[in-house]
Amino acid sequence: MSPRQLFVTTALPYANGKFHIGHIMEYIQADIWVRVMRMQGHEVHFVCADDAHGAPIMIAAEKAGITPQQFVADIAAGRKPYLDGFHIGFDNWHSTDGPENHELAKAVYLDLKKAGLIETRTIEQFYDPDKGMFLPDRFIKGECPKCGAKDQYGDNCESCGAVYSPTELKNPYSALSGATPVLRTSEHFFFKLSDKRCLDFLAQWTNSGAVQPEVLNKIAEWIEPGEDGKPKMGDWDISRDAPYFGIEIPDAPGKYFYVWLDAPIGYLASLKNYFGKIGKDYEAFMADPKVEQYHFIGKDIITFHTLFWPAMLYFSGRKVPNAVFVHGFLTVSGEKMSKSRGTGLDPLKYLSLGMNPEWLRYYIAAKLNGRNEDVDFNPDDFQARVNSDLIGKYVNIASRASGFITKRFGGKLGDVSADGDALLSHLRDGIAPIAELLAERDYAKALRDVMALTDRVNEYVDANKPWELAKKDGMEGRLHDVCNTCIEAFRVLTVLLKPILPSLATQVEAFLNVAPMTFANAQQLLGAGHAIGEYKHLMQRVDPKMLDALFEPPAEQLGADSNSSSASKQLVSDPNCSVPGGEEIAPTITIDDFAKIDLRIAKIVACERVEGSTKLLRLTLDVGEGKTRNVFSGIASAYKSEDLVGQFTVMVANLAPRKMKFGVSEGMVLAASHGDEKANPGIYLLHPAAGVTPGLRVR
Ligand code: MSP
Ligand code: ZN
Repeated sequence: MSPRQLFVTTALPYANGKFHIGHIMEYIQADIWVRVMRMQGHEVHFVCADDAHGAPIMIAAEKAGITPQQFVADIAAGRKPYLDGFHIGFDNWHSTDGPENHELAKAVYLDLKKAGLIETRTIEQFYDPDKGMFLPDRFIKGECPKCGAKDQYGDNCESCGAVYSPTELKNPYSALSGATPVLRTSEHFFFKLSDKRCLDFLAQWTNSGAVQPEVLNKIAEWIEPGEDGKPKMGDWDISRDAPYFGIEIPDAPGKYFYVWLDAPIGYLASLKNYFGKIGKDYEAFMADPKVEQYHFIGKDIITFHTLFWPAMLYFSGRKVPNAVFVHGFLTVSGEKMSKSRGTGLDPLKYLSLGMNPEWLRYYIAAKLNGRNEDVDFNPDDFQARVNSDLIGKYVNIASRASGFITKRFGGKLGDVSADGDALLSHLRDGIAPIAELLAERDYAKALRDVMALTDRVNEYVDANKPWELAKKDGMEGRLHDVCNTCIEAFRVLTVLLKPILPSLATQVEAFLNVAPMTFANAQQLLGAGHAIGEYKHLMQRVDPKMLDALFEPPAEQLGADSNSSSASKQLVSDPNCSVPGGEEIAPTITIDDFAKIDLRIAKIVACERVEGSTKLLRLTLDVGEGKTRNVFSGIASAYKSEDLVGQFTVMVANLAPRKMKFGVSEGMVLAASHGDEKANPGIYLLHPAAGVTPGLRVR
């Protein structure tokens, strides 16, 4: 079979906030699939971009006092640590505000217009007279027409669940200015999706295997006649009036494309931008009928991707997606993630705690079955799964066998006898079906099968006990044979895990001294005489302390005001934006709160390293009390003990004494550090100005 050519994307995240763990899950799912395709020898172009346009971003930028362009650039600048950190290998990251997208969106629109599928209509809409702009539904609030609840959004009531249109709200007001909105007419552009041509095309496309069966069920009502004899599909309002951050509609000054029109075109724009960089012909590639196009998305944006988008492409004369792969939502310990209140699992915190990104890739993969079911991250389950499967079952095989090969057999493999051969051929027979499960995105089943094979190998190890063979005379040959089998088996298991654990697989390739593994080359044994390298520990166990630290609420959430987050506040908490010292200013306190903290000038009269700790120094402090205090401080990385003796600093003098492993600490000295210590190391002890004496209060 000749290699396939694939164009793969994930949904384009809104550029109004940093990634949350749900985004990372989507990228991990797609990244695994892309790696599987490449390991099967196919050519894959895997791209994404920021979804830059729309009213919410425009308004958030205004609040932050910067241009929307600057706003989205700040967000874009923070993307890389997440993607690199979780080994997500997009070939390109672009923006829907890039020149390619402006051009392509206009071209698609003009083609749809030529096809007779664009129409203008005058509509009535709420207008904010203070702001001078039409209000999106989200920015109109008022009393629910059904239950009377106050401060409800323009489209639905969070109190009674009623759905209505903004014009039905009682006492409506603009969430932007507080002004009472007035109804105004405006001319809007519509994509005539209710046209019979569109419905016919969509009926055919959605039934061509392009969507999962459960997705087809959900969208059927849009294209098939309902009880009233009509499908749910109406014409789609694709324009917005200025002021709007978006792409201006050709020959329609002051009119912009609604963000959802230009957003998916951003897939094409990112590919085009990428091909520009690598010198590949975008037009020729997209015109090639053999090229396949796939999108990974979440279940909340199905209609845009399985109805509006394919119709846009088809009727503008472009390639339509071969499939849209829909996944469910990630919950954390059974709870939905709240975009505004921050998430239960902060991906950057995960990384900064030194947690292995491939633990998460494995855990998520083990839960994804290719259908659009929700997936839960449960810390106990995570720990148990990773430790028992990856460390207990898989890594152990190599660590048990490799030492003997190195020490007893000069690092060389030898022959495998019949029982080992039978085991290995069973494993090799597993490669094709498991690769197929991965290609079908049933990673959960694939990993169950990999673990079943791993169990078989461990049964073989337990039956043969190499550690006992090693002690018996005359068993040298059998010991070699058993260890050879283990190493050969470990290689086959590794190739199956490689799309999920790419970095671990690279380490194994170095250890086994082999070329990058593919499903095809794993079919041959390494064979007698192959020299392996020295085994280095491949993966740590999950330490429950890390999980405790991961889910410890950040200081800002312990404050009283944890509900008031908004898009702009989220941005402020982005470590990649201009956040002072890498963390948000803590919730406001009163002067009385502050007065509770007794800060005193302390003289460091003695100082020594603490044996058994790389972080701590033991300080003996004079605070003018006629006796000294013993204080432990985590500043050993920054100061030599002898340099501090005789210096003055500031201490918290009324902190409850704390029993530590090395003794009791009777206070705390003050030092400055960055919120993200990993990226910005450095600890700076505070020093008062000259002339102070021990015991003076700092206020
Ligand atoms: N900007 C649009 C997509 C435009 S695509 C042309 C958007 N952005 S988003 O940032 O809200 O979501 C991006 C992707 O993340 C979507 O596929 C969405 O379904 C997915 N997820 C958002 N929350 C999620 C979870 N909790 N779990 C898994 N995926 C989630 O929608
Ligand atoms: Zn209500």
